[in-house]
Amino acid sequence: PPPPPLKIMISGAPASGKGTQCQLITQKYNLVHISAGDLLRAEIVSGSENGRRAKECMERGQLVPDEIVVMMVKDRLSQTDSEQNGWLLDGYPRSSSQATALMGFGFHPDLFIVLEVPEDILVERVVGRRLDPVTGKIYHLKYSPPETEEIAARLTQRFDDTEEKVKLRLKTHNQNVSDVLSMYDDITIKIKGNCPKEEVFTQIDTALSEMLQQRNTAPSSH
Ligand code: AP5
Repeated sequence: PPPPPLKIMISGAPASGKGTQCQLITQKYNLVHISAGDLLRAEIVSGSENGRRAKECMERGQLVPDEIVVMMVKDRLSQTDSEQNGWLLDGYPRSSSQATALMGFGFHPDLFIVLEVPEDILVERVVGRRLDPVTGKIYHLKYSPPETEEIAARLTQRFDDTEEKVKLRLKTHNQNVSDVLSMYDDITIKIKGNCPKEEVFTQIDTALSEMLQQRNTAPSSH
């Protein structure tokens, strides 16, 4: 029988490049990209009470309460496409309680990718970020400028992408990161994220290819 599909988590500070790398990883490995932040932004757009509460927390750069986030992520992970193709979970878990919940539901990732980027470059990445509402592609005015005038004219900015707000998001990240890392010690790979996005991807791609090769050659334990 074919090996089970890949299950990967990716973490890193705000604007460390998680979304950018997820776009590159899913292109090659065909995994379902599940971003906790994107799920929350969709909830805001839906106009629900949960969306309204989530937005209040996100504007302060704080974690959205578990009672909103945990089931939202669990439901997306349980959908057929995620089960069949494998998944790439982005921005979850962000606390030990979220990690514990994930394990409790029976989700056990194969690999935890941690992007390491020095804090002083994160603000520049955030304020220059732009999004294409048509394709979902992530741009940066300096590092990944739009390909055409037409795309440039329709780019949007996220409501929490200001220097002031990214500092709050970073503070929340720094308060929680060690709790989460300590729970996945045995499957963690640390990636240097302070280089062009193609070079960051090469590091990740190498680790993923090695892991897949090992899985395919190792005698099955069941
Ligand atoms: P979320 O949407 O996850 O935001 P974040 O963690 O702050 O991360 P970002 O999306 O800002 O950045 P990224 O790492 O994806 O970087 P990107 O690739 O875009 O969460 C938002 C909020 O939702 C949180 O603050 C919280 O309130 C809430 N939330 C989310 N998950 C939650 C959870 N589990 N529990 C509770 N609350 C939760 O890159 C950034 C920019 O840099 C882009 O312009 C890009 O083009 C550029 N760039 C990328 N890579 C490079 C490179 N190598 N070199 C140069 N530029 C680069």
